[in-house]
Amino acid sequence: MLKLRSIVLVFFSSVVLFACGGGSDEQVVNVYTHRHYEADNELYKKFTDETGIEVNVINANADELIQRLESEGANSPADILITVDGGRLNRAMDKGLLQPVQSETLDQNIPEQFREPSGHWYGMTYRARIIVHSKDRLPAGQILNYEDLADPKWKGKILVRSSEHVYNQSLTASLILADGEEKAAAWAKGLVANFARSPKGNDRDQVKAIAAGEGDIAIVNSYYIGLMLHSENEEEKKAAEGITLVFPNQENRGTHINISAAGVTRHAPNKENAVRFLEFLSGAHAQEVFAGTNYEYPANPAIPFPGLLQSWGDFKKDTASISLIGRNNEKAVLLMEAAGWK
Ligand SMILES: [Fe+2]
Repeated sequence: MLKLRSIVLVFFSSVVLFACGGGSDEQVVNVYTHRHYEADNELYKKFTDETGIEVNVINANADELIQRLESEGANSPADILITVDGGRLNRAMDKGLLQPVQSETLDQNIPEQFREPSGHWYGMTYRARIIVHSKDRLPAGQILNYEDLADPKWKGKILVRSSEHVYNQSLTASLILADGEEKAAAWAKGLVANFARSPKGNDRDQVKAIAAGEGDIAIVNSYYIGLMLHSENEEEKKAAEGITLVFPNQENRGTHINISAAGVTRHAPNKENAVRFLEFLSGAHAQEVFAGTNYEYPANPAIPFPGLLQSWGDFKKDTASISLIGRNNEKAVLLMEAAGWK
């Protein structure tokens, strides 16, 4: 009787597998991703060329993807969830939407700092949230720390995108962790008081606004500067050439970084393919593409920084845990709201 039941189970699970393979034995991996970069599509193609596994991609922001995973439940076709912020992956994990995976390759390629201890998610790249300022209008060395941005002497000078964006929420959470809630709240107020304009646009728009003379100082993710310097759009290129990069807090805790990370979903119908996909993303080729064409820092320490990142120099990174930053997200959002950061 017991034997019969297990045969029936095996039968059913192979039916499920077939159903998820699109009714044929075609191999697939279904990816829900918040990443929005051209380089990724090239990588997916390369993965298919190497393994014969088709990559199906659904693009949306992390909150939407998490909601979708929740409502799809056990019927979800998703195998992989990728976000551009570690905190979001933690949230997905807390909701039981991810499963731990064990892989020697992943353990070898991704340092502990960048992965969830039991394997629920793995950081593939990291990015620095840096300060940039006009080369012409501001001499180097005036701004060293994030904290400096609250100094009233920068009144009317600072450009930054909305507080609704997770990049700013994580930065603020890192200040809560470093300086405490009270000081972080005062910092946010001081920062808002120095705004050159009401927050609008994305990170690139802040750099363009420096070029247009709307303000002198901006907060942006490092890879956007790389993308702008290599842009076919002359205006973007010129804007990026006109700024000085500051990796803040080098004399103390280090520059705030965040990761772009990926995990295998709880009900992944193609788990083996999903693990292979993660291993591929952590390997030399994908890591070189992330660093060489999207100007993110490779999470895999065996990969040397390409030219541009090397020219920016090595820098001290804030070692605050990415998951702890995620756990302070709500506090950060409230604090930014209270400061009037739109
Ligand atoms: Fe981005």
